[in-house]
Amino acid sequence: MPDPKPTEEFVVTPYEVKGRIDYARLRELFGTQEVTPQLLAKVHHTVGGDLHPLLSRGIYYSHRDLGPLLDGFVNGRPFFLYSGRGPSGPLHTSHLVAFDLCRWFQKRLGVPMYIQITDDEKFWARSGLTPEETEKWGMENLYDILALGFDPKRTHVFFDTRSISALYPLAVRVAQKVTYSTVKAVFGFKPSTNIGLVFYTALQSVPCFYPSWAEGRSVPCLIPCGIDQDPHFRVTRDLAEGLGYPKPALLHSQMIPGLLGDAAMSTTGNSADNALFLNDPPKVVERKVRNGFTGGRATVEEQRRLGATPEVCSIWALWRTRFAETDQKFAEITEGCRSGKLLCGECKSQLIERVHAFYRHQAEAREKVKSWAEETIITAPPKSG
Ligand code: TRP
Repeated sequence: MPDPKPTEEFVVTPYEVKGRIDYARLRELFGTQEVTPQLLAKVHHTVGGDLHPLLSRGIYYSHRDLGPLLDGFVNGRPFFLYSGRGPSGPLHTSHLVAFDLCRWFQKRLGVPMYIQITDDEKFWARSGLTPEETEKWGMENLYDILALGFDPKRTHVFFDTRSISALYPLAVRVAQKVTYSTVKAVFGFKPSTNIGLVFYTALQSVPCFYPSWAEGRSVPCLIPCGIDQDPHFRVTRDLAEGLGYPKPALLHSQMIPGLLGDAAMSTTGNSADNALFLNDPPKVVERKVRNGFTGGRATVEEQRRLGATPEVCSIWALWRTRFAETDQKFAEITEGCRSGKLLCGECKSQLIERVHAFYRHQAEAREKVKSWAEETIITAPPKSG
């Protein structure tokens, strides 16, 4: 499968996102399927008549085999959810996009969730971090993820350096099927890439197969993730059947634009002002939002007359992905912006209030999960595996 060629104006891989991303083109390049209204109707039906805003607002826009997975569920074949986080620092709001959707599916369908915390990957991929730091961020990130409302009884964590004895038997089998030329082409590795990263994709595949291995029967997997992670799972899907496991299904989200107007809310090689970190104090949140890139006009008079452009605005992206909880609020913000009735300063003030409220709630929920977070970490292989 070819990755975006150098002639494209953008690059999307697990290790690099840059340029203005043409999402329709990216879907073609990756060879994934489009999330259509019919598919959304199927999700709506499967969960008993509801649709998460991340789905109805088009942030999850691409998938692989979601239809058959949902049909299977309706016919008595439950699946499990899997997503992950590379702990390179504190979480920012766009990291919650995958976990929000997972938590929603878990609540609606009562399915198990597997979370992978890849402290090893981030040590290998980021020259500036020590293993102690990636492990520390791993625990901090895990608290925030669990605090979104995951069910303690149905949520399991692979914390790579701590779960390696559980992961390794399957990683060995996966790694035997992945060639160097595949990872070189898929991830764009260079001669100077360390061999940790060359092996790493085997570890990211393991959770897809783990429940099937542990239970000795085929258990389908659904992975909500950013589209940048798709290359890993193309490799996984290509080798799944050879190992006797089902191919994981995927639901891909667009990248959430950064506050400085970049394609993604990443702070890799970028200013910390590009993202809203969950541990930013209220004053910092306020400053970042106030400086955030918008689709506003040069003058108030012009904006009142011509309206602004929500689609290019980093503040609108925050409303869209998290802070406009109801469709009504989202429509009010969007239409107010487009018509010129709602000016950027007022829109930002409203958003800042919502961010503060969410952070206060998150801080409390985070303290509560600390009593059980440790127990979710898998530290030994399954007895039957
Ligand atoms: N590689 C991901 C990252 O850098 C972490 C990850 C591990 C992940 N397993 C995953 C992401 C499954 C999405 C789905 O953040």
